[in-house]
Amino acid sequence: MKGLLGIESLDRSEIEAILDRSRAFQARDNHKDILRSRMVVNLFFEASTRTRTSFEIAARRLGAEAVSISASTSSVSKGESLVDTLNTLNAMRPDAIVMRHAASGAPHFLARHLTETPIVNAGDGTHEHPTQALLDARTILDRGMRLEGLRVAIIGDISHSRVARSNVYLLSKFGSSIVLCGPAPLVPPELTALAPGVEIAHDMREAIRHADVIMMLRVQLERQHEPAFPAGEYFQFYGLRLEHLELAKPHAIVMHPGPINRGREISSEVADSQRSAILNQVENGIAVRMAVLERILSAQREVRSI
Ligand code: NCD
Repeated sequence: MKGLLGIESLDRSEIEAILDRSRAFQARDNHKDILRSRMVVNLFFEASTRTRTSFEIAARRLGAEAVSISASTSSVSKGESLVDTLNTLNAMRPDAIVMRHAASGAPHFLARHLTETPIVNAGDGTHEHPTQALLDARTILDRGMRLEGLRVAIIGDISHSRVARSNVYLLSKFGSSIVLCGPAPLVPPELTALAPGVEIAHDMREAIRHADVIMMLRVQLERQHEPAFPAGEYFQFYGLRLEHLELAKPHAIVMHPGPINRGREISSEVADSQRSAILNQVENGIAVRMAVLERILSAQREVRSI
């Protein structure tokens, strides 16, 4: 595996290998020899707390050095072009670059430009967020479910969500069915073409009925150009409340990539309930990112030693 740009191009066995390996990293053993003296640069052109921190912790737990650069504190805000920023960084010889960018396809551009350095996509515009889908899959497995044959309801602002797209790609590769649900302007009908087994619903109760997994998404106001729905009205129609959980399967879990907006897309009672796997997702983010970094950096070592 050269880098990790998206889930779409991965095959099932690669996904399974990462998920299996991440189990070993769930225990806080000492793994510092694995990437000792390697350097991972986190290049974040968009606001992020949990993803950036999670990648930093993952790199450090493997013994690598982690350097984080955010756009507002870098020369990008002084007008440096993306290519110049990347060339400058690359001259410092990082072993891998983790990148988040508001433009869909930005990490792919970087990967074409820096062919020697593995790139990990930490979220590109409305396109993909591969490590999020992997950590979500790890969390589903940890709750005793298989990835095959699930009914997964993804509810909220689907059109702007890279988390939804990466999850659709991953879950459909295992033959699960996915219902995308939200107000019509936020769930364009062409999304059914993303993968086999994708349906659309605008009625939240219909989407949740018999679901094994309910994934809630934030309304991404920063990516919307249309006027936003009033928060109260949105919550009335698309906010997850305890009463909805009765419609799902008895073992169903609730997930959310965060940041959560209590009272907007999810009630506090649900977010803090036993059904909620939200903090397990955050915890698994580290183990899954360790598995990804190990995989791409050991592949790189093999290539260099030839
Ligand atoms: C998501 C993202 O940035 O794509 N969050 C995350 O990575 N934990 C979803 C979001 O911002 O709503």
